[in-house]
Amino acid sequence: MEQASSSGRTRPVIAIDGPAGAGKSTLAAHLARRFGFLNLETGAMYRALALKAIESDLDVDDAAAMADLCRRTKIALEPTRDGNRVLLDGLDVSRRIRDADVTASASRASVHAPVREWMVAQQQALGAAGGVVMEGRDIGTAVFPDAEVKIFLDAAPEVRGNRRFRQVASHVHETAPVTEAAVLDEMKARDLRDRSRESSPLRPAEGAVVLDSTAMSLDEVLLRSEEIVRARWTK
Ligand code: DC
Repeated sequence: MEQASSSGRTRPVIAIDGPAGAGKSTLAAHLARRFGFLNLETGAMYRALALKAIESDLDVDDAAAMADLCRRTKIALEPTRDGNRVLLDGLDVSRRIRDADVTASASRASVHAPVREWMVAQQQALGAAGGVVMEGRDIGTAVFPDAEVKIFLDAAPEVRGNRRFRQVASHVHETAPVTEAAVLDEMKARDLRDRSRESSPLRPAEGAVVLDSTAMSLDEVLLRSEEIVRARWTK
């Protein structure tokens, strides 16, 4: 018999937050498979909105225009075995949203409070029943402050930059050549924006276990995280 936690859910919400390149997606996908939960990547929603702004020739720095865009936009996340399929107004944009122009615009779009409120409300609805691993920047602080399990995954900027570079380099859809230094610079700029924005800045949530993966192997991170889940949530 499964027990309801203080949140009233019988299945947990596992919140994974942290900066870009820390390994959140790999960890979230692993935990979702391991425990049979849905894996929801909230960054993909910010990316999809930014893509729509680009395609509509809208200024992503214009808070009012972005708030208005939210009201005219439908974003769906479909968890699959290989990550999330992302539908923007019904169209599959899963690959396009990984391009560099969308990455940069998503970071800028995500500073606006009305955009964040819109995203948070949808993400709360998606995870309300529990049984989800939700990954992003503000899951433990704003989306599910009552999450049964909270992990803040971090790593030194150089390590994250290198991981991100290898990801970008293997992304065949990208046309322009990229250098590791450029990826690191862009990532640091995004980090700074994520950590210093007024509306839910990136920071470890109250009660989060902070995992610094700088000197950890992937297996160590996965095993340690499984232990954290088991310690915080018992069926
Ligand atoms: O995780 P990602 O790189 O796909 O996220 C894209 C951008 O969206 C990133 O710059 C920060 C923002 N984001 C956010 O502000 N809150 C989230 N929960 C997820 C992503």
